[in-house]
Amino acid sequence: MDAPGRRTTILDLATAKRARRPISMVTAYDWSSGRLVDAAGVDCVLVGDSVAMVVAGRDSTLPATLEQMIYHGEIVSRAVTRALVVVDLPFPLQHLGPRTAVEACAKILKETGCQAVKLEGTAGQADVIAAIVAAGIPVMGHVGLRPQAVHQLGGYRVQRDVDHLLEDARAAAEAGAFAVVLECIPAEAAHAITASLAVPTIGIGAGPHCDGQVLVYHDLVGLSLDRVPKFVRGYADVKTSIADAVTRWKGDVEARRFPGVDETLA
Ligand code: KIV
Repeated sequence: MDAPGRRTTILDLATAKRARRPISMVTAYDWSSGRLVDAAGVDCVLVGDSVAMVVAGRDSTLPATLEQMIYHGEIVSRAVTRALVVVDLPFPLQHLGPRTAVEACAKILKETGCQAVKLEGTAGQADVIAAIVAAGIPVMGHVGLRPQAVHQLGGYRVQRDVDHLLEDARAAAEAGAFAVVLECIPAEAAHAITASLAVPTIGIGAGPHCDGQVLVYHDLVGLSLDRVPKFVRGYADVKTSIADAVTRWKGDVEARRFPGVDETLA
């Protein structure tokens, strides 16, 4: 993580947890976002299935396909040279049995050049995680609010059943996951899970006690146009800058305020 020129590995994340050094993970979906977040020094870059919402304008992550995840994953994996790149397994591949899931994860690893996959699931997916890990593919678990289960959960709601959350996170870690994302759960539940797992927890809307934090790039830089979760703290207002730049450019076009090539080169 700190050594220049060396890519972050899953072992570095385990070391960070032991050393209580917070882990940073942010999503990226294309060449420029991959280059920018990597240059900023984050530990992990996630090619999330949130691509379906923030890039493709769909109203959930459910439409994301394996081919789309591979397309975006390959671009980001080439752009990112230092951070650990994780690509989401899209719905419903983790529910179709260990063999199908291993085949899909192997395809993601081979065709994108990423270093790990992430999958959403409950304790019911532990056998699938174990099979993928046994194939030599690092897996990040994802419990709590699982956006792929939005309809079953009745919306994007805080998940409060502490016993189930603990059971799901422990099952992922015991099956071999190298880290577990905790999404939209009470801070105290995240604290208890983080204390009870040997592997790092990465929170999103889960309070300050996780071993790391993850955020969607568009939410972080202020590029999301529609639904932004309540827990998001934006660090820039890029959409306003873009709208302003395009409006000023259009004004120059309409006023014919453009130098000729000869003046530009003079
Ligand atoms: O798809 C995604 O961006 C995610 C993060 C919100 C953790 O899963």
